[in-house]
Formats: sequence, C-alpha cells, structure tokens
Amino acid sequence: MTGGAGFIGSNFVHHVVRHTDDHVVVADKLTYAGNRASLASLPEDRVSLVVGDIADAALMDGLIADADVVVHFAAESHNDNSLDNPRPFLDTNIIGTYTILEAARRHGTRLHHVSTDEVYGDLELDDPARFTESTAYNPSSPYSSTKAASDMLVRAWVRSFGVQATISNCSNNYGPYQHVEKFIPRQITNVVRGIRPKLYGSGTNVRDWIHADDHSRAVLTIIERGRIGETYLIGADGEKDNKSVVELILTLMGQPADAYDHVADRSGHDLRYAIDSTKLRTELGWSPVYDDFETGLAATIEWYVENEAWWSGAKDGVEEFYARKGH
Ligand code: NAD
Ligand code: DAU
Repeated sequence: MTGGAGFIGSNFVHHVVRHTDDHVVVADKLTYAGNRASLASLPEDRVSLVVGDIADAALMDGLIADADVVVHFAAESHNDNSLDNPRPFLDTNIIGTYTILEAARRHGTRLHHVSTDEVYGDLELDDPARFTESTAYNPSSPYSSTKAASDMLVRAWVRSFGVQATISNCSNNYGPYQHVEKFIPRQITNVVRGIRPKLYGSGTNVRDWIHADDHSRAVLTIIERGRIGETYLIGADGEKDNKSVVELILTLMGQPADAYDHVADRSGHDLRYAIDSTKLRTELGWSPVYDDFETGLAATIEWYVENEAWWSGAKDGVEEFYARKGH
C-alpha cells in the first residue's frame, strides 16, 4: 500500500493488522505529513516500511510486482497547502498515480484507488441532493482537481488497458494520527496549548464526518467484494457545520463554547459536502460503526491529549504557516 504513514493510511494499517492475517508493505515518502511513529506500535513481522516516492517508476515496479493488492492512499492532501504551492500536488497526485497505474498494468495487479468527495465540488446548504457515483466532477481547488485527474486516469486505465481497479470517494475523516494542520486536530491542539480555535469565515461550511476506522472497513470491503471498474462513495451521514464542531470541541474540553476566533476565509472555500453511500451499503453490505459523532470526537480529543509527543513537533510550524496566511 502507499501512504501508510499518513493519517488514513496508518489507521488502515492498524485496522488490517487487527482484523486480517495479511502482511502489509507500506511505500511512503515520509513527507511532512508522514510519520513513522504512527506505525511504531505494530509488529515488524506484519508491517514493513519502504521509504520512497510513488513517482519513482523503478521502485513502484519492483514493489507492485510482488504485491497481491495495491491500496493507493498516498497523496498531497491539504487544500490550504495546494493554494500556497500547487506543484507537489501535480507531482504526487497525478504523476504518482500514473506511475502506479503503469506498474499495476504491467504486472496485472489488483488496485484500489482512494479518493475524495471533493472531486464533485460543493453543494448549497439547502440542496436536498447529496453526491452519488453519477454526480458530475466539478473540483474547486488545486488539491481536488489533481485528485479528480487521478480518478480519471484510473478510469481510463481500466477501460483502455484492463487494469483491475476500483475507486472510492470518501468524505471528511476524523480520528487519531491526523496531522495538526487539519481542522479537528488543529482546534483540539490549540485548546491544549491555550490558543483560541480558528474558524474560517462564518463557519457555516458543512463537512460530512466519518471516523477513519469506518473508512478502513469500507476500503477492505471494496477490495474483497467490489466490482472491478466501479466507483463507491463512502460516507456515514455525518453532516455538521464547522461552527458546531468547534463549539462541541470547546465544550468537550471544558471551555466556553464561544471561546474561538473568526479568521480569514479560505480562497474558493467549498460550502458543503454530503455523501449518499447507498451503493456501498446495499451492494456490498457496509455500514458505519461510529454512528455517534460526539462519542467519536471525545475519543479523538482524548487521543490528542494523551499523545502530545506525536504532534507537538509539527504544531509551531503549522501555526506559523497559518499566521502568515491570515488563518
Ligand atoms: P495525509 O496527508 O495524512 O497522508 C499522506 C501520506 O502520503 C503521508 O504519509 C505522506 O508521506 C505520503 N506521501 C505524500 N506524497 C508521497 C509521495 N510522492 N510518495 C510516497 N508517499 C507520499 O493524507 P490523508 O488525509 O491520510 O489522506 C490519504 C488519502 O485519502 C489521500 O489520497 C486523500 O486524498 C484521501 N482522502 C482523505 C480524506 C480526509 O478526510 N483526510 C477524505 C477522503 C479521501
Ligand atoms: O472531503 C474530504 C477532504 O476532507 C479530503 O479530501 C482532504 O484531504 C481533507 O483535508 C479534507 O478537506 P477539507 O478542506 O474539508 O479539510 P480541512 O481539515 O482542511 O478543513 C475542514 C473545514 O474546516 C473546511 O471547511 C475549512 C475549515 N477550517 C479548517 C481549518 C484548518 C477552519 O474553519 N479552520 C481551520 O483552522
């Protein structure tokens, strides 16, 4: 698998080790977003880490030649970074995915490509519709446009070259091991550090939250039972506006619910994401285990409070970046 030292990838590795007998080879460049410590507690006879770039064709060819299944998580994943410097997003998300597709094509290896609901653009707050597998692509940011491009490459390699691939597009994940640049960990670690949480713009933007463990179970389900060439949307009916999430974090951490600041909005900020995961639920029988956001969020807060050593090294640099951007 690729990207196993990142947030969702490392949660996936923990999940696979807990629930299967499979051996996992993680290929990860260990960018600023990759962290060896996220895999440190796992048994060495079940997980090995190869440090390298998914755009390195020789490396990918060798690894994929030996793999039964490739699960492709690696990406540049943060919208704010893509607005600051888009180039690494093209290199990793587009050229990296192309490199993996070519290796999977040469060796006939089964591939699952992990993508995002952001490829569909955004919805109005009062729109009764949600994203489905047939919603037209309409990405807004450099990040989401490169993920959209990677999805299109996968579809083309399936159709033109017979690559044995599936795609999933998931909504916003939360849980342990998420980098402190992202919304929920940033606000939790702000409160721990005595910094007021920062809400972009009015805070009415809606995200559709799912626990990373539910994402992992969905990906395993698609690998086991998904139909080749198909796309599956992954979501847990978890729509919440950002203001409510910040207020809940503050309340769960024993602070006044209004102890946050409004800061400059994100350029091109998507208003609302919402997933209709009927296909995954009815065709493959998946459903989320974490059906109560407040309980999952409380456990996530506890993890960040207990694991300050995991995130403290990244915190100051992230806050300096945001301060420069007015966030
Ligand atoms: P992340 O930024 O936490 O982790 C990305 C990982 O990929 C890191 O370990 C990094 O070192 C590695 N990586 C980056 N560039 C690489 C390269 N060129 N070669 C090898 N490794 C490289 O990201 P995440 O939030 O865990 O997201 C994982 C995947 O899930 C991405 O494809 C993302 O688009 C998708 N996704 C994320 C979410 C979310 O809410 N975070 C939701 C839906 C889909
Ligand atoms: O929808 C799936 C996507 O979710 C993934 O594809 C991305 O990889 C992942 O990063 C995430 O994208 P978002 O842009 O939605 O996540 P982010 O954590 O950056 O922001 C979530 C919301 O919170 C968004 O509306 C912006 C807002 N925000 C973010 C930060 C960092 C704030 O209000 N304050 C903040 O400090």
